[in-house]
Amino acid sequence: ADGEIIPARIIHRVDFDHAGRPRPSRTLVLDMRQPDAASEESDPLRLARFINNAPIGIATASADGRITMLNAALAQITTEARLGGSIAAIVPPADREKLMTVFNSVIRGERDQAQTDVNIASGSETRAQITIAATRTGKGDEQELSATLYIIDTTLHQALMQQLEQGQKMQAVGKLVSGIAHDFNNMLTAILGYSDMLLQKHRPEDPSFAQIMDIKHNANRAADMVRKLLAFSRKQTLQPGVLSLTDLLSDMVSMLRRIMGEKVRLHLEHGRDLWPVMADASQIDRVIMNLCVNARDAMPRGGEVTIRTRNIPASEAGTVAADVMPEADYVLIEVADTGEGIPPEVLDKIYDPFFTTKGVGKGTGLGLSTVYGVIKQTGGFIFCDSTPGEGTAFSIYLPRHIETEAEKAERIEKARPEPETREDLTGEGRILLAEDEDAVRAFAVHALETRGYTVIPASSGELAVDTMEEMLEKGENVDLVVSDVVMPGMDGPTMMKELRAMGVTAPVVFMSGHAEDAFAESLEEGTEFT
Ligand SMILES: Nc1ncnc2c1ncn2[C@@H]1O[C@H](COP(=O)(O)OP(=O)(O)O)[C@@H](O)[C@H]1O
Ligand SMILES: [Mg+2]
Repeated sequence: ADGEIIPARIIHRVDFDHAGRPRPSRTLVLDMRQPDAASEESDPLRLARFINNAPIGIATASADGRITMLNAALAQITTEARLGGSIAAIVPPADREKLMTVFNSVIRGERDQAQTDVNIASGSETRAQITIAATRTGKGDEQELSATLYIIDTTLHQALMQQLEQGQKMQAVGKLVSGIAHDFNNMLTAILGYSDMLLQKHRPEDPSFAQIMDIKHNANRAADMVRKLLAFSRKQTLQPGVLSLTDLLSDMVSMLRRIMGEKVRLHLEHGRDLWPVMADASQIDRVIMNLCVNARDAMPRGGEVTIRTRNIPASEAGTVAADVMPEADYVLIEVADTGEGIPPEVLDKIYDPFFTTKGVGKGTGLGLSTVYGVIKQTGGFIFCDSTPGEGTAFSIYLPRHIETEAEKAERIEKARPEPETREDLTGEGRILLAEDEDAVRAFAVHALETRGYTVIPASSGELAVDTMEEMLEKGENVDLVVSDVVMPGMDGPTMMKELRAMGVTAPVVFMSGHAEDAFAESLEEGTEFT
């Protein structure tokens, strides 16, 4: 205070509670000018204070496993630790043998120190790492072995690690899947296209007709599977719009009731004044449907499914999964059933593509992976809470969308039905077709020509530009451009820009097996996407 500089020791401590929130911190400033002042207390007393103030649980135990001392932090981790009680009481019955084996090995002198990960007997689910260290007291032959236990609460740490691993796994599988799905899509387009062509050449009473139908049917199933895989790897093209989940669910409910059958009762509980979200309506439809079908499958003898929606303000969202979900406003959709539940050892696999516990021909294992992909691509979060024998609840958090004035106006405009005034122009006109895959191009040419269009094919973006240049010189033009998005060399959107620069005003239809995220940005405004 008088400007004099004095030596000092500053001790600053911050504790955290179970949810990782800091408790009030405490700072001690020790005046070190008089070294005697700090050592006025007796040494054991000081030691006891240090131990009691330590941020981790500490206990000492006699050779027979009785607690001879414990600190405040341990009392906070579990109320089961008592002076004179057994250290086994710290952990639930299932983990007792594990703890005592480690403890005994230290007490017998086999190891100086040992570590074990266990659950902690307490009201909430707590994991801890316990380090047991041998302590020798007394001198010479009188030496007695006891042990000190350091108990560190690792609940938060482990939950984080698990989420991290799960996230990484999903990303790796997603990458693998999207590569395969894209190639498959091209092949299937050709198979489906040629089956259509063959069907036109055969009469229905022809024996080949049924066989070709069969090819087409199976190719369609494969295409459907590919679509789901693309959804999982978050590579599908979403068409997000401002959505009211209240309207969306109300529109779905009768269809859902039909799917659920007679034995399952469906309840719908709408949240009041639900905030809008920005999402692809048809995809959210699919998400809800997949969850409901799973719920039905989990209740072969019937039961109840409840779909609930609710606004979750940022303050509440922060407590849901503090480490994975940022604190923001969300809209929650919960789908809960009273079915058989999901065993804990299965829980971290349910979103994997092709993971199913249902019999052959019954489950594809693609339902939840689709759900996961759609929710992630929409910027949301999904959590599953399940108790075997009691039921399962999936909670989906979608970010709240703040509607701009323009969007509001557009939504109201869209709600008005548009009068059908368009002329049917099917089968008239010239189409410039750019597609690098020979099979896809051949099929597209055929399909368009059989409907009466004149098709000018090009096997690359560059060739399409050249062809167009020649045509323009001759005073010819096209009525429509159909183009693949991804082509080696010049891609679809770039080609389109060149054509626009040359004065081509015809509308464009892009087609693609997969649309990279970047694609949406390179599109010109008002482009249709197929
Ligand atoms: N509501 C639920 N109740 C119980 N188990 C479920 C529920 N939803 C999903 N599961 C489990 O997750 C697995 C994967 O689900 P999903 O990806 O939809 O594939 P599928 O339904 O084809 O098996 C199911 O086989 C089932 O074991
Ligand atoms: Mg399913």
